[in-house]
Amino acid sequence: MANDRSERWRARFEALVRVEREDTDLRSLLLAALRATGYGTIAAGFAILALYSIPILLLTGFLALLGVGRPLIAPMMQWVRIVAGLERRRLRRLGYEVPAPYTAPIADPPRTFGELKADPSARRDLAWIGLHATWGLILGALVLQMPIISVRDVTYPLWWAAAPTTERQILNGLIAADTQALANLGCATGVAVFALWLLFAPKLLDLQARPGVNLLGPDPEVDLSERVARLTATRAAALDAHAVELRRIERALHDGAQNRLVAVAVLIGAARREVTRAPERADEILERAQTTVEGALAELRAVVRSILPPVLEDRGLAGALSALASDCAVPCTVEVDVAHRCPASVEATAYFVVAESLTNVAKHSHASNASVEVRLKGHTLTVAVVDDGRGGADAASGSGLAGIARRVEALDGTATVTSPPGGPTEIRVELPCGS
Ligand SMILES: Nc1ncnc2c1ncn2[C@@H]1O[C@H](COP(=O)(O)OP(=O)(O)OP(=O)(O)O)[C@@H](O)[C@H]1O
Ligand SMILES: [Mg+2]
Repeated sequence: MANDRSERWRARFEALVRVEREDTDLRSLLLAALRATGYGTIAAGFAILALYSIPILLLTGFLALLGVGRPLIAPMMQWVRIVAGLERRRLRRLGYEVPAPYTAPIADPPRTFGELKADPSARRDLAWIGLHATWGLILGALVLQMPIISVRDVTYPLWWAAAPTTERQILNGLIAADTQALANLGCATGVAVFALWLLFAPKLLDLQARPGVNLLGPDPEVDLSERVARLTATRAAALDAHAVELRRIERALHDGAQNRLVAVAVLIGAARREVTRAPERADEILERAQTTVEGALAELRAVVRSILPPVLEDRGLAGALSALASDCAVPCTVEVDVAHRCPASVEATAYFVVAESLTNVAKHSHASNASVEVRLKGHTLTVAVVDDGRGGADAASGSGLAGIARRVEALDGTATVTSPPGGPTEIRVELPCGS
């Protein structure tokens, strides 16, 4: 039991003092510590704002309880949002993405205690104000003071010589330095504080950012219920897209290959009747039947290709898109920056998006150039098809763009069409790509 606890403490201590490998040279340590001091100081400024806000908030609460301060609740909560917004921007610069949680149904700041109680983001903002005004201020002051103290202590022997005897102290006023030798000890403490600052400033910054990261984003529970609602909607879109796709395949088989095969059956029947009566006529009919079968085969191949293009499997996304672009009537450049292969469903969707967009470019845009750009950044595959044509694309007047939106939604992605009259037109799609 005791062993367990000491293991845990050791792990915590190691995590605290661990320095990433690439940061071990003195220059990068110094840069990281300076950066931490800068951002820590800015946060300390916000902490002072938060600290001054607390008595005003308490006063507003008290007056609201008495009934006279109610109109002050909304402006005060708006002020809290402004301070929280500043902290969010700081956190973004530090690499933490903390989206503002003020979305419908509760987008405006609360105006009454009831609304405040019902709004988790307001309560979390207030909790952050309290924490940042104390914890954030202490850590900010510490990270700012450490380099100042270290410079003061390192240069202490010089001050000592110049200072009057009554003010000769070292170690932050804790020990009286009666002799020069003792004063020289100040140097050592300065170096020690400097070393601590070099090693720990980024960790202190990290600790200072924690309350903001944990409290200023969306409430995980609310976020989860929004996500469930979104998933339900996209699942419905996926089922819809699936049904539309089946209908399209059924239509393609029915109107294409099936019709031709019926014609072949009729032609073969006619040929059989002619075999004995007029063999040369039968031969002519069979030739027609053969051409029709070849047509049906070509159509079947096209349908199969439209289900999951084999070219994707054979040549990968880059090859498949280059093939599409080279078939396009408008000159089209292709740039694919995808380090590894994405799931088949994602690649197929990207392929269909580009196929439909390039068909539209050729059919509607009157463009002289088009470009296709596909990039994989992190876990998001971005596809952009741009043309310099006349613009004015409108998803409501056809089924192609709406089909793109449905396919993309089914994968939890987003599709945007930007096409002002006069052009240019851009179809941009972002698809989550797993890991
Ligand atoms: N690149 C483009 N440039 C200009 N207009 C476009 C472009 N793409 C689409 N449009 C316009 O937007 C409309 C909708 O396009 P959409 O692809 O949804 O339908 P469609 O191409 O007409 O029919 P289909 O259902 O066969 O795709 C088109 O009718 C066209 O007027
Ligand atoms: Mg179209």
